[in-house]
Amino acid sequence: MKSAVKIMSTTSSTLSLLLFLGTLSHSLPLSTNSRWIVDAASGRRVKLTCVNWPGHLHAMVPEGLHKKPLSHIAASVSSMGFNCVRLTWATYMFTRPYFTNLTVAQSLDRWGLEEARAGLTRNNPGLLGLTLVEAQKAVVSGLGAQKIMVVLDNHVSYPKWCCHGSDGNGFFGDEYFDPGEWLMGLTTVAKLYKDEPTVVAMSMRNEFRGPRQNENDWYQYIEMGSTAIHKESPNVLVIVSGLSFATNLGFLKKKPLALNLTSKLVYEAHWYSFSNPTHKWLFQTNGFCATATQWFTDQSGFLISGPNPVPLFVSEFGVDQRGVNERDNRYLGCLLAHLAESDMDWALWTLQGSYMLREGRVGMEEMYGLLDAEWAHVRDPKMLDKLQLVQQMTQDPNSKHPTLYIMYHPQSGQCARGGKNGIYLSDCRRTSKWSHDRDGSPIRLKGTSRCLTIAGDGLPAILSGNCSSDRSTWGSVSDSKLHMAAKDDQGRYLCLEWSSLNFSAILTKKCLCLGDDLKDAPKCVENPQVQWFKLIPTNEK
Ligand SMILES: *[C@@H]1O[C@H](CO)[C@@H](O)[C@H](O)[C@H]1NC(C)=O
Ligand SMILES: *[C@@H]1O[C@H](CO)[C@@H](O)[C@H](O)[C@H]1NC(C)=O
Ligand SMILES: *[C@@H]1O[C@H](CO)[C@@H](O)[C@H](O)[C@H]1NC(C)=O
Ligand SMILES: *[C@@H]1O[C@H](CO)[C@@H](O)[C@H](O)[C@H]1NC(C)=O
Repeated sequence: MKSAVKIMSTTSSTLSLLLFLGTLSHSLPLSTNSRWIVDAASGRRVKLTCVNWPGHLHAMVPEGLHKKPLSHIAASVSSMGFNCVRLTWATYMFTRPYFTNLTVAQSLDRWGLEEARAGLTRNNPGLLGLTLVEAQKAVVSGLGAQKIMVVLDNHVSYPKWCCHGSDGNGFFGDEYFDPGEWLMGLTTVAKLYKDEPTVVAMSMRNEFRGPRQNENDWYQYIEMGSTAIHKESPNVLVIVSGLSFATNLGFLKKKPLALNLTSKLVYEAHWYSFSNPTHKWLFQTNGFCATATQWFTDQSGFLISGPNPVPLFVSEFGVDQRGVNERDNRYLGCLLAHLAESDMDWALWTLQGSYMLREGRVGMEEMYGLLDAEWAHVRDPKMLDKLQLVQQMTQDPNSKHPTLYIMYHPQSGQCARGGKNGIYLSDCRRTSKWSHDRDGSPIRLKGTSRCLTIAGDGLPAILSGNCSSDRSTWGSVSDSKLHMAAKDDQGRYLCLEWSSLNFSAILTKKCLCLGDDLKDAPKCVENPQVQWFKLIPTNEK
């Protein structure tokens, strides 16, 4: 996680495998086929919907084990709808004999973390006497027991909060980032987990960055790292991240990576509200969503299309879950619309509601965390609603079903369902499918002859049998492509809008902020997200 604060200011403060074989829901290992991650044995698609869980900070003990039992944490990951955890680790835990031998209790004592130690004694007493590496294995097994897949992410070399450009962990040759030691760490971890099917992927390094970053070294070391992992553990997926805090893989357009990794290579990218530094989420929300989505596609998203597509794992995105950062709120709707449309694999930043120790602060709360500081409750259940659709697999490469659409409203996290006469918002997991040939054609409720139609300005959208009028001819009308509009009898565009009075009603109203594009640069003070609806392709039954 690149910290927003650090970007905006320049201050520097900134067990056993056999036990669980029978319980996993997919038959692992995984491999890749075109842009999809698939079950290697059957070829069926497996979508990674992960949450990040850090274990790379000072004590190198996965966060929260002092708050709740491991089985409880694993069960809550599963009950929140995730099938996977991106578990982070620090190289030194495996390469420095001093750390390798340290027990969990000793590591906590080293940092004077008495409360965390007391909490572990209560919640996970069996872990205290294990070494840090054994404790990590126990966490992997505990996740596997709940059918949760694990992506092991090499997050830093020196264990500490990550990431800013001058923290010594950013690029090969930095103070703590010795390439040989990094390769040794990858090799050790690959070997340790090669027979553990729960570990489906290893991500080679988080967020390359800083003054030393350069493409030549990147190509050279990525090849060495992937070879090292693949040699020890040929079944595991190898995940590769780009430069500039995992936001840039654009250089691959000029020079593809020539790796001997048939069906095992996955790329990863990060996308936060502050990733693209021009910051126009407010006042130009539609225009900037278009610009930011194009930026993401140019930098990384292009990898899933073209002649040689590969899977792209959006391994970090997230927001302040208190909802207090309006820039974050607007970005999230834009990102979720794109993530749903492209049906990429992803990992939310983040699970932890608090840390044992981060940047000198004991027990620091994490506002990007799904859980609260006590790891007891979901901080904001609305966040889980927003993830409902992207937690589903909407595109199945093996499906024989035709492409239909789900009508998604990212701000509420709900989807439009056809009722007797009208439409309303409800759970995306049990929603209607729609057919739509192209921009500027009717939107028909599957299995009926009824189409989405305007009744009038400020009135609920209806379903009518007359699909040929302008009032049932829908297209996207703003730069963000997130406004769905048709013309009323006077020839004016009206847009679908989430009702502010009745949270399941969908009205048609005057379109908001259409002219906020960056060229003409007028500013719109309204929040157009109430009108953001997106047709998400699906060929699932
Ligand atoms: C680590 O533990 C091993 C086995 O108990 C021991 O041989 C070795 O000396 C220890 N190394 C350090 C640096 O404490
Ligand atoms: C690629 O890997 C295969 C199997 O591991 C090996 O036989 C082959 O020599 C490798 N090719 C290159 C160019 O490294
Ligand atoms: C459908 O709508 C158009 C335009 O409003 C109208 O001219 C036409 O008569 C309608 N057809 C039916 C069958 O209602
Ligand atoms: C809210 O909207 C839904 C869907 O249009 C409708 O069924 C329901 O009756 C409305 N509730 C109220 C209180 O108006």
